[in-house]
Amino acid sequence: MDGKYTFSIIKPNAVRTGKTGPILSMINEGGFEISAIKMVQMTIQQAEAFYEVHRGKPFYDDLVEFMTSGPVIVLILRHDNAVNEFRRLLGATDPEKAEQGTVRKNFGVSVKMNAIHGSDSDENAIRESNFFFSEIERYC
Ligand code: CMP
Repeated sequence: MDGKYTFSIIKPNAVRTGKTGPILSMINEGGFEISAIKMVQMTIQQAEAFYEVHRGKPFYDDLVEFMTSGPVIVLILRHDNAVNEFRRLLGATDPEKAEQGTVRKNFGVSVKMNAIHGSDSDENAIRESNFFFSEIERYC
């Protein structure tokens, strides 16, 4: 995983409201190849561990509750300069500030319910991918 991969989560509100297909289409049309994909519903303990870096922040408990409120789609995606290119496709964390044509502009409803997560560094892409996917679950 040498800069060519990033990790993503389609969040519970987007899955619940039937946006999985349209979001996957935008990901494909953006030139990303799916290297791993599955649906999971995190436990509280798993979400707390995944969001460990945010522990102590004012939105942490709410974030953990939200991310465990239903199933999510977790993905490993391949593209040159994957982390940066994917963040460009997603748009700003706050959907109101996201550019036209981005995933969050189209499908996000608030900073918390911003439809989709993308890793913010190569290091985190590796950590986050390893958190959810074993060797035999990925094609990368
Ligand atoms: P993401 O970058 O995927 O992972 C951390 C998440 O925390 C982020 O998306 C937002 O959904 C959420 N988040 C970040 N900042 C805030 C905030 N100020 N209020 C509520 N949620 C936030």
